Amino acid sequence: MSPRPLIIDCDPGVDDAIALLLALASPDEFDLLGITTVAGNVPLALTTANARRICHLAQRSDVPVYAGCPRPLLRSLTTAEEIHGASGLQGANLPEPSLPPPAQHAVPWLIERLTTASAPVTLATLGPLTNLAVALIQCPAIAQGIDQVVIMGGALGPGNVTPAAEFNIYVDPHAAKVVVDAGLPLTMIGLDVTHQVVTTPARLADLENLGTPVGQAAAGLLRHYGQIDIDRHGLVAPPLHDPCVIAYLLRPDLFTGRPMQLTVETEGSICLGRTVASAPSQAAPANATILETADAAGFYALLTERLGKL
Ligand code: BDR
Ligand code: CA
Repeated sequence: MSPRPLIIDCDPGVDDAIALLLALASPDEFDLLGITTVAGNVPLALTTANARRICHLAQRSDVPVYAGCPRPLLRSLTTAEEIHGASGLQGANLPEPSLPPPAQHAVPWLIERLTTASAPVTLATLGPLTNLAVALIQCPAIAQGIDQVVIMGGALGPGNVTPAAEFNIYVDPHAAKVVVDAGLPLTMIGLDVTHQVVTTPARLADLENLGTPVGQAAAGLLRHYGQIDIDRHGLVAPPLHDPCVIAYLLRPDLFTGRPMQLTVETEGSICLGRTVASAPSQAAPANATILETADAAGFYALLTERLGKL
């Protein structure tokens, strides 16, 4: 099998960084065409610099990083420095690569890449969906170049920004609605799944024991990450969200899910950004696969094995 063409849209962010490392460590499975960045966990200049830092760490500076939208479609930007640190990569001190990033904006690059793709491209989205929504609005024909979109976002249970909403959807609910309503083959990996994937001390030690710069950086990042969620959600250890998207593409057998009808709340004040999934019907057919379970031990074994290759 030839590697799957992949674009990762992200807002690094600690867990985005681990997701990027997992993808960068998997060249047999992924032909990583590019990384697009969006404002989310931290402002755009930082998410872009952080994506480039991670490529440099993985010795994959050949992967282009395109900066995208600096704010959500309608709302003002909400960031998450209390979780990811002021730099967005709390726990790692990585130099910024010296070469300038590509001048092209992420949205025209996405449109160009997806409308000229010789094989359909998989999109992994790890942040607010602003870039993909703008690309779909400007050029609906990009849908023909998309194989599937796998989203980290949403929650059927409690949210993590408000009782109702998960961060990526809450930050830009209007963009999420554009993407969900676009009729693309969509998989949603929400908090219900990612809260099953927790970084126990033993799993953290496995990463640290790799004894490599990547293993050290990953362990440093994860040592500080997600503590807030332990108290907030009564978890036994911090959850790891975004790498689930990459792990699902590598090993779908580690996850279960089912087709459902997905909608996004964009109007209510209490439930703004809520993802609502219901059993499909003739009137409202399934428009997304909603993942429900993850094999956390299998996930961390995969992550550790792959990061050991970098
Ligand atoms: C999501 O929000 C961000 O803070 C993380 O990077 C992840 O994408 C989890 O709700
Ligand atoms: Ca993210």
